[in-house]
Amino acid sequence: MAPGTPREPRSQAPTGDIPLAAGSRLPNGAGAGAPFQYLAVQKTGVRQSVGLIQLNRPQALNALCQGLMEELRQALEALENDPQVGAIVITGSQKAFAAGADIKEMQNKTFQECYSSGFLTGWDKVSTVRKPIIAAVNGYALGGGCELAMMCDIIYAGEKAQFGQPEILLGTIPGAGGTQRLTRAVGKSLAMEMVLTGDRISAAEAKEAGLVSKVFPVEKLLDAAIACAEKIASNSKLVAAMAKESVNAAFETTLAEGNRTEKRLFYATFATGDRKEGMTAFVEKRKANFTDS
Ligand code: COA
Repeated sequence: MAPGTPREPRSQAPTGDIPLAAGSRLPNGAGAGAPFQYLAVQKTGVRQSVGLIQLNRPQALNALCQGLMEELRQALEALENDPQVGAIVITGSQKAFAAGADIKEMQNKTFQECYSSGFLTGWDKVSTVRKPIIAAVNGYALGGGCELAMMCDIIYAGEKAQFGQPEILLGTIPGAGGTQRLTRAVGKSLAMEMVLTGDRISAAEAKEAGLVSKVFPVEKLLDAAIACAEKIASNSKLVAAMAKESVNAAFETTLAEGNRTEKRLFYATFATGDRKEGMTAFVEKRKANFTDS
């Protein structure tokens, strides 16, 4: 940070939102004493099995500055390594999930700087986490905000959410997967329209297009996302990671190769105790007790 630049306040829940009590530190003690500046992070759910990350830079509508994305990387790593956590929810405020990459940080960047520093490549961390991630999107999910949501595995939206890739209006194009993931999610025509005009779509349109799986009233969104994450976390974490890997293969390979990947992972579940336990529990008419092994 340049000398004299006013420091943004450390984590506090944005006004009008569900406060994340005691949530500004990495869970499980990692990084204790170093609260996040741009995030509130906590474990939640009846079994504390959900890692909840709230983007918390309200004065910039959660614009994704380098500091925020570095903290997000650290938080994801801590939750990925926490054996209690079976799924992760990323959310923002009621006004903004995230209004994009930080335009003020990008304004004076040169091609040379972008190229040699691999600008935005660190964002890939989100898409390489093995645990399932749900984006709970209220308000604006624009540019990098929409790209961040699309790096997650499931998108739930509040009914006032707006999705868009408005980079064209700034004289640039999406650079964190927007042209690729949006096209795969909503098809070529709508993706082209959004990327070429910068127009936003509503939560209802996003649902209709297949970008989000469910839409909720604004105040109910986060609870619904946490409930879904708890449900996911109640299954075997090991097998959930295999399921996620297999679905993701559908985006990266041919149908034949994807089916081969699925088959290999399906067979691999037979090497786990949880597969044995799940089927035995069914036969014995009892609830499965998964041990993530
Ligand atoms: N990067 C940096 N700062 C941003 C930002 C971004 N992507 N989006 C919003 N902000 C800042 C604004 O500069 C403003 O800060 P200021 O008060 O210091 O000027 C603050 O957040 C509030 O934004 P403002 O534009 O005043 O709010 P609004 O309610 O009138 O409009 C948006 C909301 C989201 C429509 C508008 O902020 C916007 O268009 N943002 C940019 C979206 C975008 O192009 N994203 C892609 C980036 S590649």
